[in-house]
Amino acid sequence: MATWSNFNFQNSASPLMEQIIFFHDHTLIILIITTILVSYLMVSLFFNSYINRFLLESQMIELIWTILPAITLIFIALPSLRLLYLLDELNNPLITLKSIGHQWYWSYEYSDFNNVEFDSYMTQFETNNNFRLLDVDNRIVLPMNNQIRILITATDVIHSWTIPSLGVKVDANPGRLNQTSFFINRPGIFFGQCSEICGANHSFMPIVIESISVMNFINWINNYS
Ligand code: CUA
Repeated sequence: MATWSNFNFQNSASPLMEQIIFFHDHTLIILIITTILVSYLMVSLFFNSYINRFLLESQMIELIWTILPAITLIFIALPSLRLLYLLDELNNPLITLKSIGHQWYWSYEYSDFNNVEFDSYMTQFETNNNFRLLDVDNRIVLPMNNQIRILITATDVIHSWTIPSLGVKVDANPGRLNQTSFFINRPGIFFGQCSEICGANHSFMPIVIESISVMNFINWINNYS
């Protein structure tokens, strides 16, 4: 989860988020190199004393400063496309979770098994007992180390089902069913929030996932009442 003064991404808990962070770092390095180079050229223009009164055009320099940025963009575009298709891939999921956005709470359905369904409301903050503005009364429970499919929709306005540490951010549209998938690679509790401005209590419909082992998950779903 996010902690104070965290200026970077949250730690990744899924392979897709790991890839997203790699791509971010890769692109940021290219951006920094470009910014430094251009800044240096612009600053040095102010302080040099070279003057050429007869220079009107130069094909060679224009060729260089057209082709170099084009090549640089390819180095961003190709990894970006790779990531895009990686995020869209679905690898034979073990279970499907349906999450439905409402004003202003989420509800969930595990329709594969015992038709488990429940609402998930934000809870009141109690000192040192839970996370302020981030905890819910009924958490999602999911097995770690397994491919999980999420189906996302809404009943009223557009919401967005977003969990930063898993690299998931999919809009919940009324009348549409969106699909994504992820793989949680460790046990723990993962937090998310709605990220589509959906009304007065937009900030108060958090998402919480409890990631546990498969055996414990089967136990949980069998004993759900
Ligand atoms: Cu739901 Cu913002």
